[in-house]
Amino acid sequence: MKRVAILISGGGSNMVSLAKSMTGDHPARPCLVLSNRPEAGGLAKAADMGIPTAVVDHTEFKGDRAAFDAAVIAAIDAHAPDVLALAGFMRILTPEFIAHYEGRILNIHPSLLPKYKGLHTHARAIEAGDKEAGCSVHEVTAELDGGPILAQARVPILEGDTPEALAARVLPKEHEIYPATLRRFLDGDRSRVDY
Ligand code: GRF
Repeated sequence: MKRVAILISGGGSNMVSLAKSMTGDHPARPCLVLSNRPEAGGLAKAADMGIPTAVVDHTEFKGDRAAFDAAVIAAIDAHAPDVLALAGFMRILTPEFIAHYEGRILNIHPSLLPKYKGLHTHARAIEAGDKEAGCSVHEVTAELDGGPILAQARVPILEGDTPEALAARVLPKEHEIYPATLRRFLDGDRSRVDY
């Protein structure tokens, strides 16, 4: 049985959909939910689902990114995951961290990559006058939001959309494509699927 560690910073809705998908004949189970923020709402959701949790509070490392990443690695490796799934994890990871889990980290990003890497993706798509937006699941490499894309889903941007309205339209798509893509990835399938 493969083991998946999920990293969060907030509410963890993607973590919940990933964890719920790992049942029955699924080849993996969640082995850890880790957050960089002690107050992340997803931690209680994970605990309610019986998933071990951990917190490595980045504010305790006063900008020493390498020390924070080393502490996160120690916390994660205590649970021996096969794959890491970043799910609303709002920290930029060092190349050393990414090298440690080389080829075994996935992320969900709320844009149609390679457009709108980084933050405030929905506001930027609206501002640009785009007709559609969406989300992408990609392999994590040292380039921020730049790794091979494994899945994408698209939604229309409607007249008068606020970033919040657009986010609410995209989020269910995230909850659909991330579990499906994680399962394909665990089965060794690294092809791209456009939903
Ligand atoms: C989502 O928009 C996701 O795309 C981004 O973080 C937001 C919150 O995710 N990575 P979650 O509800 O904490 O999973």
